Amino acid sequence: MTRALDPAAYNPGFSRRNGRTFCEDIPLSAIAQRAGTPAYVYSQSAIEGAYLGLDRALTRALGKAPHSICYAVKANSNLNLLRLLARLGSNFDIVSGGELERLRRAGISARRAVFSGVGKTREEISEALCGGVLIFNVESPAELELLEREAARLRKRAAASIRVNPDVEAGAHPHIATGRRHHKFGVDWLQARRMYVSHRNSKWIAWQGISAHVGSQVLSLTPYRQALARLADYVRDLARAGVSLRYLDIGGGLGVRYTTEHPPTYSAYARTLATQTRGLGCHLLIEPGRSIVAAAGVLLMRVLYTKETRGKRFVVVDAAMNDFMRPALYSAVHPITQVEKHAGGKMKKVAIVGPVCETGDEFHDAWPLGDVKAGDVLALWGAGAYGASMASNYNSRPRPAEVLVEGKRFRGIRKRETRADMIRGE
Ligand code: LLP
Repeated sequence: MTRALDPAAYNPGFSRRNGRTFCEDIPLSAIAQRAGTPAYVYSQSAIEGAYLGLDRALTRALGKAPHSICYAVKANSNLNLLRLLARLGSNFDIVSGGELERLRRAGISARRAVFSGVGKTREEISEALCGGVLIFNVESPAELELLEREAARLRKRAAASIRVNPDVEAGAHPHIATGRRHHKFGVDWLQARRMYVSHRNSKWIAWQGISAHVGSQVLSLTPYRQALARLADYVRDLARAGVSLRYLDIGGGLGVRYTTEHPPTYSAYARTLATQTRGLGCHLLIEPGRSIVAAAGVLLMRVLYTKETRGKRFVVVDAAMNDFMRPALYSAVHPITQVEKHAGGKMKKVAIVGPVCETGDEFHDAWPLGDVKAGDVLALWGAGAYGASMASNYNSRPRPAEVLVEGKRFRGIRKRETRADMIRGE
């Protein structure tokens, strides 16, 4: 295994000073002490930097052609982060009534949201119609019928796009690839075309655009190029058929560096989008999640025990697969480092495991770590996206606290769940 560079060197918002790891100007050890472990810690400046960097790259590449970033709420749905992104000017991509409620609680208008998802319920559709969501990304003929009925019932015209299945190959792991023809997402083009044409004069459906999502943790620009070339053809074809579309939504998916990956830069990504959509006259929408928040977060944990059995070294920590699922679910590799490095300690390959009663509850099987002892604090990197939002109570473990750092200050943005919280409703 190649020893990756210290993640503090490539995750903005973090640094190592005299062996101590900092989030902005606060040592992670101090946060662990105050907030307890396991805890998610996010750098506000890293999130701002990612959002504004992407926005600037798009403005530069697209010139006068308008664009909007619709942050994918599922990546990290903490109300405080949603508010932060809303202040920066972000719009949002939601996939449930629950996410719509989060926007409402964060004081963000539904008019700033596009609503995606293959299984919107009637209740969710009517809530979103009443809230006035910017666009429904419709994923089936049956959903279109339901949307039209609900719109007529509520006497509110539904702004809609069709999510087309782009049939391109992208995404790091089969479970997070979504854009192939055999996947459940979207509608194939011929069917989509029939839907657009049959409803072009509908009283209750107002066609606004077309959308696609090629996959997640995408590390090449090729799938974007391919999908956009198709979508651009579809937009022109529809215009000839009397359906003119204002928005082109290319979804999210831009990958990030967890260990040794080389994701495309924002400017290369933005240039690809600009080149492929030039002259179409569409307002470009993108739905990034991971690339905005992944690098901005770490999961802090403490060593409970170390042990050696049959020559294998185990470090047992107080965080587990219920707190952070990506390694167990996708075999994702997230670096783990000591937040305070002792000089001279030799690195040894260790298995880093949690307390949950499953063999899969393992962050690493053989990861290089210095000498650690019970009580030491470790950081798992790249935990800002699909970390807290995917945490569960498995093994009756309350979900972690979340902390936001801003310069020299930090504040809790979600309390550690209590046992009472966990049992409420049973
Ligand atoms: N738009 C749509 C329609 C999506 O389905 C997704 C993610 C996104 C945007 C945001 O994609 P991103 O930019 O974050 O890649 N839990 C998995 C990721 C699942 C992503 C599902 N869809 C993981 O931890 O890798």
